[in-house]
Amino acid sequence: CGIMGYIGGKPSQHILLNGLKKLEYRGYDSAGIAVCTEQGLKVVKSQGRILELENRLQDEELAGTIGIGHTRWATHGRPSDLNSHPHTDNDMKFSVVHNGIIENYLELKEELSGQGAQFVSETDTEVVSHLIAAHYDGDIVKAVQAATKRMRGAYALAVLSAHEPDKLVAVRLHSPLIIGIGEGEHFVGSDIPAILEHTRDVYILDDGEMAVLAREGVELMTIEGNLIAKTPLRVNWDLAVAEKDGYAHFMLKEIHEQPAAYRRALAGRLLTGYPWVYLPELQLTAERLRQFRSVHIVACGTAYHAGLVGQTAIERWARLPVLTDVASEYRYRQPLITPETLVIVVSQSGETADTLAAMREARRQGAHVLAITNVVGSTAAREADDVLFTCAGPEISVASTKAYTTQLLVLYLFALHMACARGTLPAEEIGPIVEALGRLPEQAAALLERADDVADYAQSIAWQEHLFFIGRGADYAVAMEGSLKLKEISYIHSEAYAAGELKHGTLALIEEGTPVVALATQPELYEKTVSNIKEVIARGAQVLGIAAAGQPDLSVHAHRTLTIPDTHPMLAPALAVIPLQLLAYYASVTLGHDVDKPRNLAKSVTVE
Ligand code: G6P
Repeated sequence: CGIMGYIGGKPSQHILLNGLKKLEYRGYDSAGIAVCTEQGLKVVKSQGRILELENRLQDEELAGTIGIGHTRWATHGRPSDLNSHPHTDNDMKFSVVHNGIIENYLELKEELSGQGAQFVSETDTEVVSHLIAAHYDGDIVKAVQAATKRMRGAYALAVLSAHEPDKLVAVRLHSPLIIGIGEGEHFVGSDIPAILEHTRDVYILDDGEMAVLAREGVELMTIEGNLIAKTPLRVNWDLAVAEKDGYAHFMLKEIHEQPAAYRRALAGRLLTGYPWVYLPELQLTAERLRQFRSVHIVACGTAYHAGLVGQTAIERWARLPVLTDVASEYRYRQPLITPETLVIVVSQSGETADTLAAMREARRQGAHVLAITNVVGSTAAREADDVLFTCAGPEISVASTKAYTTQLLVLYLFALHMACARGTLPAEEIGPIVEALGRLPEQAAALLERADDVADYAQSIAWQEHLFFIGRGADYAVAMEGSLKLKEISYIHSEAYAAGELKHGTLALIEEGTPVVALATQPELYEKTVSNIKEVIARGAQVLGIAAAGQPDLSVHAHRTLTIPDTHPMLAPALAVIPLQLLAYYASVTLGHDVDKPRNLAKSVTVE
């Protein structure tokens, strides 16, 4: 989603719309603006692209020099006029645009409804406008501060009040927000491109900070109200770089967005006790979950690889047989489907033709279909019996990264949810898994800090003709994804092999200097994988070992080692894949390829 806000001497409507257009690359399914006019606060919003909004505004110009705008990419509530931002309170005195997720919004909604607030949308954001209204006592800054004290989750907010039409309040927690500094005018944006045509001087807000924008100046403070000083940053980027947040490619940006994406995918979904996982959006009851006799996971490409990890999690935790297949095969294999089969389709876009066809076939044969997708309002989301959103945010690079890892997280959550309903996993096992899930965002961030090590390795293998990825169990599934990523964008031929299977044929291809990436994150398979590492080294391979902290030192066996933070073995894929994404990325950059748009490939394949 994108945020744009303006306060100054010029008509705000045009500035807001232009800013929003610059943010459209972040995804869009609806947009809206709110302006303080002489007749009070006016809001116009619309489902669809910004062009739709512009069309509506042609008949109804919002005259005023202070306003906020938003382009939405739905995570809660389908795309619709009513769910679009800005949201307001019932008296139209406060207007809010928001990026992020308010985790406790249901609780707050109930409380505010009890006090008379009437809700018109399905969003978490609407709660914020009512909450601010409830706390308003003549000072908008204090009201926003009081409201944030009640909110849990992630937010970047821009707030406007008809009571104080000379102030715009911006506040940030876990969701980016910047302030643009002009002369007699100031801007707020979720992203630098929104404001770049007006100014290059910006304040970057940090978590827990807020800004009060007036025409003549900006006051910066913590959410608690302590004034702070910041040095403005001068942005020398051009627009193309700014859209990528300063990263050279969308893929790199999206790799680095994973900690935030993990946080969103898990937000509000983990509990500290039974039932451990909170997925209220599911229609499936505990009773129904107990009735299933088998699970089929169907997907294409990267999503299929996520399915393979999901298969292990469901089999281990929920004790059900799982078949995972690529959608283009599944349809024609005459799958054995009964009403006791749960079919899970995994699709970033929710539009992949093969996946949709498989899903329709499964439903026709009576299966209950659960879609795991990143796109609210997508065909898969609309047609499935049940849907869980991955909340990764828009993914632009063709090679999927954060969409894959958030698919893993949602599959873990669902596997635990199923295990709880079926009583197949004791609480003393579930607790540590839930706790480990909660640590993943920070651990992913820690891992990303070591990206340079991977860049170094990538440069050393970039001119090789082929490369092997090996691993056992969950590591094998990650090896497959690592290999796909490398092939997709670097065009280096690679193969993923179950480490124990190498000696049955492929070992013949290992010669002096062949690079092998060996994953050994699974404690119970560690010794076996080490044996396989020794087998390839004996034939001349150069091995990069990917190990987990807390296990015996892999560097005594491999030529290079990269260690992922300590986690539950089943969750290791969500960390181990990150260096492999970086490897593919840096190899592609080294070879000078078009990273974000690899040859012959498309982001969404809508033909069978
Ligand atoms: C295309 C993309 C892949 C993606 C696959 C499935 O082939 O290039 O990156 O994994 O489609 O896409 P979906 O949107 O269904 O996850």
